[in-house]
Amino acid sequence: MVAAISIALLAVLWNTLLAGTTSATKCNGGDKAAQRAAKTCRELHAALPDIITLPAETQEYDDLRDNNWSHTVWQRPACIASPARTADVSVLVKKLVRANVPFAIRSGGHSPNRGDASIGADGVLLSLHELDRVAYDAAGGLVSIGPGARWGAVYEELDKYNKTAVGGRVLDVGVGGLSLGGGLSYLSDLYGFVCDNVVNYEVVLANGQVVEATADSPHSDLFWALKGGSNNFGIVTRFQSQTYPSPLAWGGIQVFSADQTPALLQALHTYQTTPNKDPHANLIINLIPTNNTLLLTLVYLRPVPHPAVFAPFYALTPLVEQTAVMSLHALMAQFPPATQPRWTWYVNSFRPDAALYAAISALLAPESPEVAAIAKLQAGSLVAAVQPVGVSAVLAGGDRGHHQHHHNKPGDTWGGKGTGNAMGLERVNQTWFSVSAAWWNEGDDGAVDAAVRSLHDKIRKLAERAGAQLEYVFMNDANAKQDVIAGYGHENVRRLWQVARRYDERGVFQSLVPGGRKLPRVGH
Ligand SMILES: Cc1cc2nc3c(=O)[nH]c(=O)nc-3n(C[C@H](O)[C@H](O)[C@H](O)COP(=O)(O)OP(=O)(O)OC[C@H]3O[C@@H](n4cnc5c(N)ncnc54)[C@H](O)[C@@H]3O)c2cc1C
Ligand SMILES: *[C@@H]1O[C@H](CO)[C@@H](O)[C@H](O)[C@H]1NC(C)=O
Ligand SMILES: *[C@@H]1O[C@H](CO)[C@@H](O)[C@H](O)[C@H]1NC(C)=O
Ligand SMILES: *[C@@H]1O[C@H](CO)[C@@H](O)[C@H](O)[C@H]1NC(C)=O
Ligand SMILES: *[C@@H]1O[C@H](CO)[C@@H](O)[C@H](O)[C@H]1NC(C)=O
Repeated sequence: MVAAISIALLAVLWNTLLAGTTSATKCNGGDKAAQRAAKTCRELHAALPDIITLPAETQEYDDLRDNNWSHTVWQRPACIASPARTADVSVLVKKLVRANVPFAIRSGGHSPNRGDASIGADGVLLSLHELDRVAYDAAGGLVSIGPGARWGAVYEELDKYNKTAVGGRVLDVGVGGLSLGGGLSYLSDLYGFVCDNVVNYEVVLANGQVVEATADSPHSDLFWALKGGSNNFGIVTRFQSQTYPSPLAWGGIQVFSADQTPALLQALHTYQTTPNKDPHANLIINLIPTNNTLLLTLVYLRPVPHPAVFAPFYALTPLVEQTAVMSLHALMAQFPPATQPRWTWYVNSFRPDAALYAAISALLAPESPEVAAIAKLQAGSLVAAVQPVGVSAVLAGGDRGHHQHHHNKPGDTWGGKGTGNAMGLERVNQTWFSVSAAWWNEGDDGAVDAAVRSLHDKIRKLAERAGAQLEYVFMNDANAKQDVIAGYGHENVRRLWQVARRYDERGVFQSLVPGGRKLPRVGH
């Protein structure tokens, strides 16, 4: 009787509190999950006052909540935890699992998918932004990076030693999500993907235990799974990665008008199929048909102006050219930051194919219905990012260990030292083609998604018809609706489930961490 009364009292008190603080959250009085999360948050706040921010502390809460990138992901968690040490992460995980409260994990917050790295009133957001230490170890030639660091801070620290790391191409982006999703770098054709260059992961497991996963530790299976497996196994609190001498590079941005799209994609095809492509060359094309613009970013990892490898592009005349010899860091700093508040994207992979590129150019013409639909919205922009990935990138990753791909025989072992990555990439030259859109108003979310989705589906159908489609889906550019991990291949999915069961018996990262690209249910 006494207990029942105090619970009723608490509920009244709590509803009063809620009414005053979370007017944005629909709380229909019976929202048990939100009440449980709020109660857990008050307990956490009492135990860890420096780490927990409650919604009532408005300014700080809002700053953390709105960190960071696309406004499409902003939500109102019951509270936000900002752990500054691995031990804090461990305590938080233990408490949240015991209380059965859902949580989200955020590093740089650059996923535009709602819920990937954010959560509503029924959950707690673990924001790792305080875990942002970057330290270079000259003796080992390795860099330790906290997941909450941004790539710009990593390159800045490594500049002191004339070193660089295989990391993001845009300086603001977070280390955690990018590295765990595979990670495409300007250095990838030389050294593999970002994940291929991580030699040690410090991980907080579902039971709060902290382990170091390396290629030759008892946790080599976890080491492999984290190379593309994202947030399905634990919270990574430190990456230790290979470094390389910082190259003096040639490159920069060339701007064209959108009518050059067909010609540029044919030049890309020639670039991708010329025998023995120089792995020091890398590039990205951003097609922005809504703005009649096309950006070609060239990167050559040697101080050689206009190297021969880019010859197919020199036949085209840019409207503006901003290229020079400079550090790779300075080159990356040239890329303009996005200014629109709302973003979404889908991604597809296929083999380079001239007819397919011609068909895609037609789909992206200004008069195409999807382009027109987005162009008419406030600040509406369609951005297709064309990312060539040489077979050398796939092989460079494999060279760092035994490469796992679709055709592995069942029964292969983990392979001891060096185990490749979990992404199941085919050993072919490929293009990772993302279709993104940016816009201003929340009311346009539905229209944008319909248009981007439609374009993505059309491109996929064209690639399938051309026999060029690949199963792999690049997690870092994928929409929440895309089944990324299924594309890693049956054998890799089976192994990922095996790792998940070994390190997370209760399935915490499958059910209590609902955000992100989860292990596929089928084939389980
Ligand atoms: C402007 C821009 C440029 C980009 N450039 C590149 C690029 O060059 N190369 C590339 O590969 N991608 C690139 N991306 C894509 C980018 O990799 C993804 O947006 C990625 O999600 C960013 O990582 P984050 O830590 O900022 O993301 P978050 O949104 O914080 O996290 C993404 C996912 O990873 C999980 N996660 C994050 N940290 C951890 C952790 N420590 N432990 C467990 N799970 C975790 C989260 O739960 C979430 O599901 C770019 C994106 C943008 C917006
Ligand atoms: C959000 O990201 C921007 C750059 O994109 C950065 O300047 C800002 O400091 C970030 N906000 C927080 C709270 O980290
Ligand atoms: C880095 O390179 C510059 C220019 O080559 C050189 O002057 C400097 O001494 C180098 N610094 C280190 C720490 O090696
Ligand atoms: C990949 O493309 C390169 C040219 O860039 C070519 O030399 C190589 O044979 C191609 N590899 C495969 C597996 O198709
Ligand atoms: C495209 O134009 C719109 C409207 O002028 C603008 O808001 C947006 O920033 C531009 N997009 C890009 C990617 O340049």
